[in-house]
Amino acid sequence: MPIKISDESIRQAAKVISQGGLVAFPTETVYGLGGDAFNPDALAKIFEAKGRPRFDPLIVHIADLETLEKVADLSMLDTAARKKLSLLAEDLWPGPLTLVLPKQKAVPDLATSGMNTVAVRLPAHETARRLIALSTGAVAAPSANPFGYLSPTRAEHVEEMLGEKVDLILDGGPSQVGVESTVLDLCNGQPAILRPGGTPKDAIEALIGPVATGPAVNADDLAESSGLPSPGLIKSHYAPRTPLLAHDDESICALSPSKEDGAAFLFFDGASRNKWLSVQSLEKGFAVAVTIAVLSETGDTLEAAARLFQTLHELDRLSPKRIHAQLAPEHGLGMAINDRLQRAASAA
Ligand code: TXA
Ligand code: MG
Repeated sequence: MPIKISDESIRQAAKVISQGGLVAFPTETVYGLGGDAFNPDALAKIFEAKGRPRFDPLIVHIADLETLEKVADLSMLDTAARKKLSLLAEDLWPGPLTLVLPKQKAVPDLATSGMNTVAVRLPAHETARRLIALSTGAVAAPSANPFGYLSPTRAEHVEEMLGEKVDLILDGGPSQVGVESTVLDLCNGQPAILRPGGTPKDAIEALIGPVATGPAVNADDLAESSGLPSPGLIKSHYAPRTPLLAHDDESICALSPSKEDGAAFLFFDGASRNKWLSVQSLEKGFAVAVTIAVLSETGDTLEAAARLFQTLHELDRLSPKRIHAQLAPEHGLGMAINDRLQRAASAA
């Protein structure tokens, strides 16, 4: 059962991590499944609990900048990259940004899947930072969901999906950002976004200039996955059990309810839902059961991201025949929302 956050429960959770156990904890993006980043046994348990392939490396979470050099070897960065790192860290940490940096030897290969780089994040969530600081200072934590399934934005999601596989679940209420951190690689010349997420590309480019956006990797390529730039780029990911189809504004409005009995519609904004209703109510035979959900009535990408996984979890529980999801505009967190929807769609 999830335990509410208190000084006592955070201390208890820190002890579990220090002793090699697993704790699910809230962050501002999604809930994480945390274990001591320096303890290979704890890392093995994380892969085991998630059913995650070992070639998919973990993010190491730290509580303060002083710990960064314990996990990342900054002497391996050139001057330009070091400058970018300090601009990003100063402005966007703590926050939903993960930086891929040269790895420090003390970090076990299991955490980084044998790569010579390590992904590091300094989360904004205060409970997360206190837990990290009170335990071992560096906590490896993927999202607390079974591999390939929707990420958890509430303690109940973790309880439902991983339950007894976790030693303790800390309940910090709903995650505020709602999509995972943006993963940015600083090791290869021009910085590249390996996964769009809670920090918009614009915010990064405003500080360090143009960044590249990595291509999505097809799940079929996984057999030869050793060369993946970021294994989390596997296309089928973040998927509900229900088949999901991603649509642009036009194609979702063209879906006729009479052919969609038992389906669910997930609109980005209230205006699109209203448009669909007004187009489709002209049609006869609207006496079919469809479920309708909207991510943000006003079309705010921040609100839509915060509600994305929660809404998909809710729709999935209703077991509709399929979910038709409208893509977001590409500004703000729209890129991260669309990334998750398109991956979910390619799993269908
Ligand atoms: O918001 C988040 O980032 C959440 C919370 C819990 O902090 N964590 C999260 O972890 O989403 P996970 O394991 O679900 O995703 C980690 C991503 C994957 O796409 C993985 O491939 C990538 O980071 N990654 C980790 N280490 C990497 C590395 N050394 N090089 C490239 N990509 C890496
Ligand atoms: Mg994940």
